[in-house]
Amino acid sequence: MLSVSNLDVRYGQFRAVQGVSMEIAKGDVVSLIGANGAGKSTLLRAIAGALPIHSGRLLFKQQEITNTSSSSRVQQGLSLVPEGRRLFSDMTVEENLLLGSTVKRSGDWNIERIFSTFPNLVKRRHAKTGNLSGGEQQATAIGRALMSNPDFLILDEVSLGLSPLVVNQVYDSMESLKDAGTTILLVEQDLERAMRFSKRTICMLEGRVVLDKLTSDTNKEEITQAYFGLHQSSKQEVS
Ligand SMILES: Nc1ncnc2c1ncn2[C@@H]1O[C@H](COP(=O)(O)OP(=O)(O)O)[C@@H](O)[C@H]1O
Ligand SMILES: [Mg+2]
Repeated sequence: MLSVSNLDVRYGQFRAVQGVSMEIAKGDVVSLIGANGAGKSTLLRAIAGALPIHSGRLLFKQQEITNTSSSSRVQQGLSLVPEGRRLFSDMTVEENLLLGSTVKRSGDWNIERIFSTFPNLVKRRHAKTGNLSGGEQQATAIGRALMSNPDFLILDEVSLGLSPLVVNQVYDSMESLKDAGTTILLVEQDLERAMRFSKRTICMLEGRVVLDKLTSDTNKEEITQAYFGLHQSSKQEVS
């Protein structure tokens, strides 16, 4: 469904993403893990069309999207819930959700289904998002992305700043997306939660992919080593 090949994304001369390749098939649920600054958000934003690509290629549903606009990628079914939610704080929940349907694909998502997926939003429907709790804001951000009826959803650190209870609620709602067959690529700092949720785990270190495995074929120790680059440095010492 999504094919990333040899992708480089730069800020000026700085290579934040270097030679990254990955294949994500329809229905895959993939967690992207990595330390702060590893390049996760840069990669996700480049996939969504929010950042230009320096070199490499992106194919989505067999079509080249390397240089297409983010709205045309939304039109094709790819939608990003960005890090930090990026809601319009002086607009209401409903108004923010409606913005998500500016690019509208056919499908089952509409504002009422968002409210039944995130029932805690119902009473906040006409509240400005600046006055919401973190969990309510995150639900609104996910709902906004769902309004375009994506079949490939990208989520960047949805649990950031939320209490454990609220994180559980957000993930419970995401389980229903998984059940509906939505392809999901998400960044999650909580490794155990990521491993519980995802079929596959990809770890980035300093702009590169250092591990890409089915979650059932790896374990916490191996991922942690990749996360800290321990595996790599021990290999270097040997050679
Ligand atoms: N707008 C920017 N301008 C310059 N450097 C940036 C910018 N955004 C991120 N970076 C740098 O790119 C690297 C990767 O950042 P990011 O993709 O945000 O990492 P992560 O999401 O894994 O924490 C970091 O070194 C970060 O400082
Ligand atoms: Mg990030």
